[in-house]
Parts: sequence; structure tokens; C-alpha cells
Amino acid sequence: MSYVTIEQVTKGYENQVVLNNISLTLKKGEFATLLGQSGCGKSTLLRSIAGLEDVDVGRILIDGKDITYLSPRQREVGMVFQSYALFPNMNVFDNIAYGLKMKKVKNLKSKVKNMIDMVDLIGKEESYPHQLSGGQQQRVALARALVMEPKVLLLDEPLSALDAKIRKSLQKELKRIQKELDITTIFVTHDQEEAMTMSDRIFVMNKGQVVQSGSPSEIYTSPVNTFVAKFIGNYNVCNMEVFCKLVRTTELKGNEVAIRPEVLQLVSVGEDSLDLQGSWEIKGFIKDVSMAGNVLRYEVETEECAFHVDYLHHRGDMFEQGARVHILVPKKECIIL
Ligand SMILES: Nc1ncnc2c1ncn2[C@@H]1O[C@H](COP(=O)(O)OP(=O)(O)OP(=O)(O)O)[C@@H](O)[C@H]1O
Ligand SMILES: [Mg+2]
Repeated sequence: MSYVTIEQVTKGYENQVVLNNISLTLKKGEFATLLGQSGCGKSTLLRSIAGLEDVDVGRILIDGKDITYLSPRQREVGMVFQSYALFPNMNVFDNIAYGLKMKKVKNLKSKVKNMIDMVDLIGKEESYPHQLSGGQQQRVALARALVMEPKVLLLDEPLSALDAKIRKSLQKELKRIQKELDITTIFVTHDQEEAMTMSDRIFVMNKGQVVQSGSPSEIYTSPVNTFVAKFIGNYNVCNMEVFCKLVRTTELKGNEVAIRPEVLQLVSVGEDSLDLQGSWEIKGFIKDVSMAGNVLRYEVETEECAFHVDYLHHRGDMFEQGARVHILVPKKECIIL
């Protein structure tokens, strides 16, 4: 049975429809991510779940209870924002304890201490927000949400203000805490890599709709349309007519072909190609080479269009700009859209 249900939710501002008939479900303990470009409605959906926005149409249920018209407090959800929004005049302990104090909860001290331990802030109890790094402040914000034992944790780009290294380590910690507490979590990001690392399930959004949902691997290897292919996997998306001309075939039907850059292989002209049975071959030349850390990305120009080809970067092993090559395209890796 689903733990969180979003049922045909629609919401607009003035003339603009921001959430367009969104339905999705989450299981208890799942880590789900809303992934999409800026302005596609991720924050609006999250804020609607938190009760910070009203929806125009549809229902939201948590643990079987319709919460669509409840106040934010009654919904038992915790939310963490990109800006940490801590109380500047309270130290770490008091920031985390604030919500419990308001609710007059028993065992306040031990609950706050446990949470400080969980987010690895022991020794910082007396520090004020301005004495903490960005990463530490975000841990406080997370602890402040979690200490209330929410049914659902909502995270709106909580890591995007942090530098790459801290961000990576907090991603791991967030995952650990989420699993340890088995808390159903909805995470928002526009960073596909972050979504891939963190999530049990990804909902790809575009223009107020969920265009695909699935495990990171499903989304990455089986995009359902051009938008997802381009957004997620840096796929080469090629018009079908053009592609058929390039590989001299008539056996493919569809509008477009999507191929991931890392499944393509390059061979120098003159070299025997390895596997012509399972692959198509396209003639081209290396137009450009760029380096992204451990990956070399070649831009290979062909008669009709350019392809990106990704290679792991090994020492002394590189095609020169201008080199004539064949691109081997494994048939089974071609996704017809
Ligand atoms: N209070 C508001 N009044 C009017 N329009 C709004 C309001 N809040 C959001 N919008 C519009 O709704 C659309 C979706 O906004 P939303 O903040 O949900 O996007 P997002 O996916 O979170 O984007 P980002 O990745 O930039 O945070 C945008 O076009 C935005 O301009
Ligand atoms: Mg947003």
C-alpha cells in the first residue's frame, strides 16, 4: 500500500498552470526525488505537500489520511530548504529543540541530544548559526526537521548552496540517516547526478507534469521520450531519417534514436572493427575533445550530424582532433523514441 499519494493535483498562479494533473505514490521508507529543470514546479509540489500552498484540484494523502486541507502543522511533515533558515539568535541546541518546546514534548533533552549525535554535531551545541559552516548549518536544519519525527521529510534542494566536496559527503550522510530512521523522503533537485546517487525512485518533471518515474537505473537506461533522454543521460538524440541514412538501414521505425555517449566506440580508419554483427558503423572525424575529470568527451562530426562519444580517460590513449574515425553504434543500445 502506498504511504504518500498525490492524486491528480493541479495548481495554477494567475494564468499559468504550474502543476498539471500530477499523480504519484510513494512507499513507506522510500527516498524519492523530484528532478527537473528550473521552473517545472518541483518546489510548488513540495510546498503543496507541506501545506505551504493550496492546490486547486486533487488530493494529497499521507499514511491513508487525506491532508489536502489540513494546516502545515497538522500534516506531520518536516521540511528543509536550500536556505537553512535557522534562528540566528539561538544556538544549535535551541534551534533543534524549538519545535519540541512549542509542542511541550517530554524527554526533550535526550531527543535533541540523539539528533545532534545523528547529524554529527557533537561539541557544537552551544554554537550560533553564524559560527557554523554552510554544511553544519544544513545539518542543524535537518536535525530540526527530523527531531519532530515527521511522517514525511521534504527536502527542497538542501545541498545546492554547498560546495562540491561538502555536498558529496552530506549526500552520503543524508542517505545514511534516511535509511537509519526509515523515513519516507521527497527530495528536490535539478542535478541529475545527485538524483541518481540518492534516490530509490526518481520522478522526472517537465512543465508541471511527471513525465517518467522509475529507479535511477530505469530512468537512465530506458528514457521514455526525448526530454528525459537529453535531460538525464546526455543521450545523443538523432532524427530517425537522418540516422537511417547514416547507417544505411531501413529496418528502424520511429521518430528519433537515442544513444548514450558511453556505449559508442571509436575506431581509427584502417583499423579492423571488432564487432560489425551487432553494431552499425558511421564515418566521421574528431571535431573536438574535452575533458571532464576522468571522462574524455569526443565530438565526432559525421555527414549529417554530430555525436558525443565518452571514453574513460587512460594515459596516453587519445584520438587527436581531426582524426578520421568510425563510430561503432551497438544496435541493442539504440533506444527508439
Ligand atoms: N507565488 C507564486 N506566484 C506566481 N507564480 C509562481 C509562484 N511560485 C512559483 N511560481 C511559478 O511557478 C512555476 C514553478 O515554480 P517552482 O518554484 O515550483 O519551480 P521549481 O521547479 O522549484 O524551480 P527551481 O529549480 O528554479 O527551484 C514558475 O514558473 C514560477 O515562476
Ligand atoms: Mg524550486
